[in-house]
Amino acid sequence: MTAQFDSVRAIEWRNDRLYLLDQRILPVSETFIELNDARVTADAIRDMVVRGAPAIGVTAAFGIVLAAREAFAKAGADWKRAIEADLQILAGSRPTAVNLFWAIERMRRVMTDLGASNPEARLLAEAQAIHAEDVAANRTMGELGAALIDPSEAVITHCNTGSLATGGYGTALGVIRSAYAAGRIKKVFADETRPWLQGARLTAWELVKDGIPVDLLADGAGAWRMKNGGISWVIVGSDRIAANGDVANKIGTYHAAVAARYHGVKFMVVAPSSTVDMKTATGADIPIETRSADEVLHIGGRRIAAEGAGAWNPVFDVTPAELVDAIVTERGVVLNPTTEKMRAMMA
Ligand code: MRU
Repeated sequence: MTAQFDSVRAIEWRNDRLYLLDQRILPVSETFIELNDARVTADAIRDMVVRGAPAIGVTAAFGIVLAAREAFAKAGADWKRAIEADLQILAGSRPTAVNLFWAIERMRRVMTDLGASNPEARLLAEAQAIHAEDVAANRTMGELGAALIDPSEAVITHCNTGSLATGGYGTALGVIRSAYAAGRIKKVFADETRPWLQGARLTAWELVKDGIPVDLLADGAGAWRMKNGGISWVIVGSDRIAANGDVANKIGTYHAAVAARYHGVKFMVVAPSSTVDMKTATGADIPIETRSADEVLHIGGRRIAAEGAGAWNPVFDVTPAELVDAIVTERGVVLNPTTEKMRAMMA
């Protein structure tokens, strides 16, 4: 597991329980939370103990193992009926990351083929396969994405797309890890990513831990950083990619893509094929999660905004395909995405 530049794992299955590294309190404290049922797992996804599209999918798959255990203990042979409520609760935890629904669907397909006996072992094997496949996909994307980067000074990334946001290694951060290992970049600029500060708290923590040089940018500083030169690519992940190549990702991604195009900086999106939603035609059809205004009005539980001010808090935006130079999945690279090219890659 601990290859060079890859020392973090945030989702663990041990002693028949699920353990999640609590991302709400990083980097101050590295604490794992033990989860023993599907409702608590759904709460952990909603409350951002675990976040990042692929990590949410992997967590939901393990949540279904916990749900199956409980359903079989309560209802025996009738476990398929008993598990349904927990599947709904998991599906309702967050709306934008399609990996959540993809993982539930994959686990459901396995359930269909199971009979009346205890389903736990088979479902656990599937959840572990989803986890392992995600790490393998990230490794492949790391190689494919890094190969697109001509040797340069630095790249910019947004949000956290690393080991914390995935099964391990990361999507955009996986490409950055691979590019750094190959000597193609010398450093990373990471947007701080308000309101949850995934860049400042999580991306910086992962990169420092792995010895990759990182400088933080206040969210408004990206365009000016590009103007000052030395940036070859903006590299981001995604929570859902529509059939035409429109990309939903953390709020602020669209802003970065517009600035990149203006400055002649290339824009790369890195995501496993489980993030590609061919059933969603365009970005306009992607449900965008809006969270509490308190997340903007407060930092670390302390109000920073003037009393009486409100806040609009959509936590994702959609970058149109025309601003995307490359989509990298484990199935291959799509340059200047269109529906036809996405269809061919996903076929
Ligand atoms: O709200 P979050 O922290 O779950 O949002 C995460 C992101 O937007 C990531 O950039 C995205 O999931 C890609 S992660 C590999």
